[in-house]
Amino acid sequence: LARRLVDLEAQVILVDNLFPGGGGNHFNIAGIESKVQFENIDVRDTPRVAPLIEKCDFLFNLAGQTSHHFAMADPQTDVSVNCCAQLSILETCRHHNPSIKVVFSSTRQVYGVPQYLPVDEQHPLSPADINGINKAAGESYHMIYHNLYGVRACILRLTNTYGPRMRVKDARQNFLGIWLRRLIEGSPIDVFGDGRQARDLNHVNDVVNALLLAAVREESGGQIFNLGASDPIELRDLATLLIEINGGGEFRVVPFPAERKAIDIGSYCGNYGLIRDRLDWVPQSCLEEGLEGTLKFYREHYRHYW
Ligand SMILES: NC(=O)c1ccc[n+]([C@@H]2O[C@H](COP(=O)([O-])OP(=O)(O)OC[C@H]3O[C@@H](n4cnc5c(N)ncnc54)[C@H](O)[C@@H]3O)[C@@H](O)[C@H]2O)c1
Repeated sequence: LARRLVDLEAQVILVDNLFPGGGGNHFNIAGIESKVQFENIDVRDTPRVAPLIEKCDFLFNLAGQTSHHFAMADPQTDVSVNCCAQLSILETCRHHNPSIKVVFSSTRQVYGVPQYLPVDEQHPLSPADINGINKAAGESYHMIYHNLYGVRACILRLTNTYGPRMRVKDARQNFLGIWLRRLIEGSPIDVFGDGRQARDLNHVNDVVNALLLAAVREESGGQIFNLGASDPIELRDLATLLIEINGGGEFRVVPFPAERKAIDIGSYCGNYGLIRDRLDWVPQSCLEEGLEGTLKFYREHYRHYW
């Protein structure tokens, strides 16, 4: 997103505390360092965050605790980042920059175990883990500030996002990162369960397109949109595809670790018809090409990511 914004000649301020378990990585801004203002700040540190928000036209509210397993182990930290900090950010917008446009990145995890597929925005919310609950609360705060105080906010419910510059060090955030790392290192990929769980993957370029549309299109205010892909794929088939693209590798189907099984949502794919109809967003990346480019990126730059 920062790279695209720099290309668009926007003035960009990045706020990230680079906490070790997250995807923050200085290498991700290699080449654009001189064109962005980077602030190593925790979003919970309101006195330092507020003056930055006060001067912005747009806020891409992406910083978050993103690990579902970490949230189960340390729910209070997840609340502090994904709920309390969100309230402070919105209070700052309300009192000091009410004309700002906020785009909040939420997650498909707010739906919990799908009752039907593809999941549309009318699907009941029944988060299967603490992180899903806190992200759902984060959404609600944004909607309240939009509806009651006129702080224009749009929510995107992201599904599995992949592409260059994601965290691939371990399985803390998602399965795909560690799969990419293992493939490049020549180790087998672990596919949990029977491998028949479907996922809809979005390339980061498509997600960036959605973030930009949500920011600039006036009609996005007060709206909640799913992202998604038209070609969901079962994990077993995804592993096979990755191995084929990689030109080698193997996968093992192994039982779910108990703590993962407890919060697994089974198959998911999102209905993105609403954002397609309202904001003209459609995912444009081809999965094979996207995965190929991603593998190529990490083969070249792995030293910066693990
Ligand atoms: N990537 C996905 O598949 C996916 C899926 C659903 C939702 N999301 C949402 O998208 C957003 C971005 O996620 P991502 O996948 O890019 O993860 P990421 O870890 O790469 O990015 C999150 C960033 O937030 C920063 N951060 C965490 N806590 C912070 C704090 N207290 N103060 C300041 N910075 C902090 C991290 O250092 C990291 O750079 C998150 O809000 C996440 O919930 C992502």
